[in-house]
Amino acid sequence: MLLKSIFATALAIACLHAETGYDAWLRYRPIEGAALVRVRATLPAVVVTLNDADAEVSARIELIRGLRGLVGRTLRAEERIPRESAIVLGTLDEVGRAAPQWRLHAQLGENGYWLKTVVERGARYTVVTASNPRGVLYGAFALLRKIALGVPVDALDERAAPYAPIRWVNQWDNLDGSIERGYGGRSIFWEDGHTRTDLTRVADYGRLLASIGINGCSINNVNANPRLLAPEMIPEIARIAAALRPWGVRVVLSVDFATPKTIGGLDTYDPLDASVAAWWKQKADELYRAIPDFAGFVLKADSEGRAGPSTYHRTHADAANVVARALAPHSGLLLYRGFVYNHHMDWRNLKNDRARAAYANFKELDGQFDDNVIIQIKNGPIDFQVREPASPLFGALEKTNQAVELQITQEYMGQARHTVFLVPMWKETLDFDMHAGPTARPAPTPVKALVAGKVFHRPAGGFVGVANVGLDDDWAGNHLSMANLYGFGRLAWDPDLSARRLAEEWTRLTFGDDPKVVETVVGLQLSSWRTYENYTGPLGLQTLTDITGDHYGVAVEASERNGWGQWHNADEKGAGMDRTVATGTGFIGQYHSAVARMYESPATCPDDLLLFLHHVPYTYKLHSGKTVIQYIYDSHYEGADAVAGYVDAWKPLKERVDDRRYGEVLAQLEYQAGQAQVWRDAVTLWFLRASGIPDARGRVGRYPGRFEAESMALEGYAVRDVVPWEAASGGKAVVCAAAECAATLRFDGAPGWYTLRVQYFDLPTGVSRFRVLVASQVVDEWAVADHLPARKIDGSSSVRRVIPGIALRPGDEIRIEGVPDGGDPAALDYVEIHPDTR
Ligand code: GCU
Repeated sequence: MLLKSIFATALAIACLHAETGYDAWLRYRPIEGAALVRVRATLPAVVVTLNDADAEVSARIELIRGLRGLVGRTLRAEERIPRESAIVLGTLDEVGRAAPQWRLHAQLGENGYWLKTVVERGARYTVVTASNPRGVLYGAFALLRKIALGVPVDALDERAAPYAPIRWVNQWDNLDGSIERGYGGRSIFWEDGHTRTDLTRVADYGRLLASIGINGCSINNVNANPRLLAPEMIPEIARIAAALRPWGVRVVLSVDFATPKTIGGLDTYDPLDASVAAWWKQKADELYRAIPDFAGFVLKADSEGRAGPSTYHRTHADAANVVARALAPHSGLLLYRGFVYNHHMDWRNLKNDRARAAYANFKELDGQFDDNVIIQIKNGPIDFQVREPASPLFGALEKTNQAVELQITQEYMGQARHTVFLVPMWKETLDFDMHAGPTARPAPTPVKALVAGKVFHRPAGGFVGVANVGLDDDWAGNHLSMANLYGFGRLAWDPDLSARRLAEEWTRLTFGDDPKVVETVVGLQLSSWRTYENYTGPLGLQTLTDITGDHYGVAVEASERNGWGQWHNADEKGAGMDRTVATGTGFIGQYHSAVARMYESPATCPDDLLLFLHHVPYTYKLHSGKTVIQYIYDSHYEGADAVAGYVDAWKPLKERVDDRRYGEVLAQLEYQAGQAQVWRDAVTLWFLRASGIPDARGRVGRYPGRFEAESMALEGYAVRDVVPWEAASGGKAVVCAAAECAATLRFDGAPGWYTLRVQYFDLPTGVSRFRVLVASQVVDEWAVADHLPARKIDGSSSVRRVIPGIALRPGDEIRIEGVPDGGDPAALDYVEIHPDTR
């Protein structure tokens, strides 16, 4: 055992990475000053592990690694409690046997831990104990977190237990190595149809997950490939399970409901057919033989074209139970997704409403699901939009387990190209009182308590986060986005933690204690959701993106007149979905009466959800007294200004953050600032055209200093209409069909210093180049090679290049030369010329 430890520790030290973001919040950079003095004064030289259970060995390795980094001391690993001071790692039983005189008895709950200082004969023991080895591991991480955050650890007596048993992440990875809605590179699990040969990243992911208390991970897309359950895949899955096991993270698989037929050789997948039940049972047995700690399945059925029980006119309960019964003998769980809706809905029928689907599908089945079935419910009734009310289904299931599904990967939330800290949004849902309890004994029934099974005393339940990390050095594709993974895990452990506390913890662990860095990053993170909402879709309009495409760039009408049901019904008179009981779709009636009453009347409906729940004229006055249309204009300008402010706030951190991460975050924020302006202009212009009501502040449609490419002198460039029109300024762009093209304008403003902003389009089909000349002198040139979720010339591909510090004189020619490449036609939208104010 000792050898195993020394070897693993040496490995861990050799693997210490430079500041690429790979270490995330587990950097263990040296603490300084009084905190260091204090820790060193009482730090023992020994760490004792009382058992060689995987999780306890990991706890020891992590403690040695962490303390070496944090305080520059390498602890000796031992197996018996010495007479000198030591850190002691062991379950309550193990500690009780090794040191009965300490009398450490407690009911800690599953996976709960106890950090306790015991002083005996002049020696000080820091005991990390728990009801099981995984709890010991969580305790070790908690101890390290305290030290990293400068919390004194010399007189500990702290018990903590997770709020809910299920704290899982889902990865939507495909066997070919791509990830559905993944923005941090390719799969860490899969490559070319098989498990990757090198699973180091999987083990490192397990470590990150364990550090925040996550105990399960699904390793394949919810849109599951049935081949995953083929016999030859099981040893491959077992390898992944083995990589995660030392960190107490159990493997979960997403399964396809038709698998008994597609790969099982049956001619049916009818859940009530005995051969189907037998097939699931033998498949579960086979899995558990290979992976004894296998956690269970996720099942997406009858949703977005997936197979489901409706083929045989069976219910979701029939479907869930046949699979769950195969898992039950092994204590496995079935997470059955509540995300079931019809995506071919008739939009002409104003009574149709996708938001009603989850409740409509599951409410009447309450009580029919087995005890190891958990309905996994997305936070809102639609689909991870920038703002939605809590799903009414949370309040409707009393005799069924449930879990909330949150999306860590930022599908509709800027795809890691925008920084959006989601914890404040999640907390609004988790804290929302569904008023679901018995009316005779009114007590708050927030979503968090419902999903944890606390309200109706359910045996299972909890939190699932769609994480989708990938092979990128920084896992998520954006350093700041990793705060969402951190926040998810910490909230699943303790949903009462505040968003500020989580932002602060994460920032300090990720970037260090410099107060200016902490203040800046925390401020940015905490305001970022509201900022994003402001420039995408405020007032409950939802993210106004291309919902039939990549879910990224702006496309205000993409949600309308199709069967997907993400409608906002904005037309020339007003906007919003009438979901009232009185005149609308009746969705509001799915809530308990106290909530329904609040939502039913626009007078009591919160402004933030007004257009999600009501259809109102543009002149409707919000609680603030502002009209809806003016709010739409103002919020978009506020949002875009806020992101510009993030760039300004980040820049002074140059000497305070390591170079690489400083530069990468700066580039991300600068890009976001450009995108926020694209969104601002598109959405405000769309609503100006729809409503005909001008912006009271005269901004919308007037862009001082902007020169449209289509009105410049063009050589080789051809003018092209952009679809949707609002995605390009003036609705048009110029594209180059020749070997090289140019667009030129003559500056006729006052002489002085200026910043040029060139708005162009970046398509993934080639690497075009641009060159900017002022008075025949080259002032900037660049290759167009960003990795954007873009396919055509529209809001997704629109990018801004900022060229500051240019001296302009009246009569100067500003010339932009484009060289297309492959399918990328070096398309240009406009140039803006702004006086340098700084
Ligand atoms: C969204 C997402 C899909 C995903 C689906 C789901 O619609 O765009 O990629 O499959 O949610 O959660 O099942």
